[in-house]
Amino acid sequence: MTEKIAIIGSGNWGSAIAKVIGVNVRRYPELFDQEVRMWMFEEDYKGQKLSQIFNKTHENAKYLPGITIDDCVVAVTDVVESIKDATLLVFVTPHQFLKKTCQQIKPHLSPRARAISLIKGVDLNEDGVVLLSDIIKDNLGIDTSVLMGANIANEVAKGMFSEATIGSKDAKNAEMFVKVFDTPTFKCSWIDDVAGVEICGAIKNVVALAAGFCDGMKLPGNTKAAVLRIGLLEMRAFAQYFFSGVKTDTFFESCGLADLFVTCTEGRNRKCAEAFARGGKSFSQVEAELLNGQKLQGTGTAEEVYRILKKKKITQDFPLLTAVYEISFEGKPPRYLLEALANQKPKSKL
Ligand SMILES: NC(=O)c1ccc[n+]([C@@H]2O[C@H](COP(=O)([O-])OP(=O)(O)OC[C@H]3O[C@@H](n4cnc5c(N)ncnc54)[C@H](O)[C@@H]3O)[C@@H](O)[C@H]2O)c1
Repeated sequence: MTEKIAIIGSGNWGSAIAKVIGVNVRRYPELFDQEVRMWMFEEDYKGQKLSQIFNKTHENAKYLPGITIDDCVVAVTDVVESIKDATLLVFVTPHQFLKKTCQQIKPHLSPRARAISLIKGVDLNEDGVVLLSDIIKDNLGIDTSVLMGANIANEVAKGMFSEATIGSKDAKNAEMFVKVFDTPTFKCSWIDDVAGVEICGAIKNVVALAAGFCDGMKLPGNTKAAVLRIGLLEMRAFAQYFFSGVKTDTFFESCGLADLFVTCTEGRNRKCAEAFARGGKSFSQVEAELLNGQKLQGTGTAEEVYRILKKKKITQDFPLLTAVYEISFEGKPPRYLLEALANQKPKSKL
């Protein structure tokens, strides 16, 4: 019996990963159903429906222009229809639309369905941090893996060599997802530290805001390198504080150091934070002006992270993550980042 893939989301990353999936669906016809449905949130684009343009040209004209995706991928605007008979669900919507999407599809799932989340972000409850993969797992009652890595969507879509990390507790599902995603130019490895992989993907966006503040202030390379190093340590400390079993080695996989590096040099959070630090504009203005409908994820995550650090009374152990929040939301000037880092106590072990 073949596996049927549904892609839930079709923004910049959703469309890029659809390109990768299209390659593997054709490569393994004995494994995969030759139609992949991709849920597209309908929008008008230059007077036409985005989904109709996609199904005619096989190109997402708004979110991934210039890239042709295999015609096995079909845009479907009804989310329930998009997952009909699907056994492998690839979640790649922006974080804020996840819960509603789960509620909509829950009664219509195939009994064979398993999921993987490519979404970057965290949620909170009264006790602490909730992984987005756990939201999918708990709402839908299905095994859920994650895929994170140094993956600027446009570069992956162009076939530039990249790596990604799959986090999964289930070896069989992990091996299947490696078949879904691994290509000669998109190398995927699998580890079982789901929380470590996912927290890397979420928190690096907050560190990227700090990197963008450095660029906006025209600070030199030494300073930005220090911000990245401290940021990586705080990512690890955060993951290990809230989840047991998170491994240090995870932070040396593509989801860790590599993703942090590329996000802090090329990503959208860095770009918007640079514009914000130059002054005169709020993050929502900068997002609207620079991202062409794409969603900035780092500021939302910075808010969530700060709320939980404050609740647990541990902001002093996370000077960088805390300063990013205070600069973004409490009117502290970007230079405050350096003050916060200069005042941190040296730690022998974090
Ligand atoms: N773009 C990248 O390079 C990249 C790389 C790795 C991971 N990610 C992550 O992937 C996830 C998805 O990001 P993206 O880049 O594909 O999206 P995006 O920001 O490019 O696009 C936003 C998407 O949200 C859709 N949308 C708008 N309003 C909606 C609504 N009310 N309900 C449902 N959908 C709506 C839009 O149609 C569009 O598909 C994010 O968590 C992001 O952090 C992105």
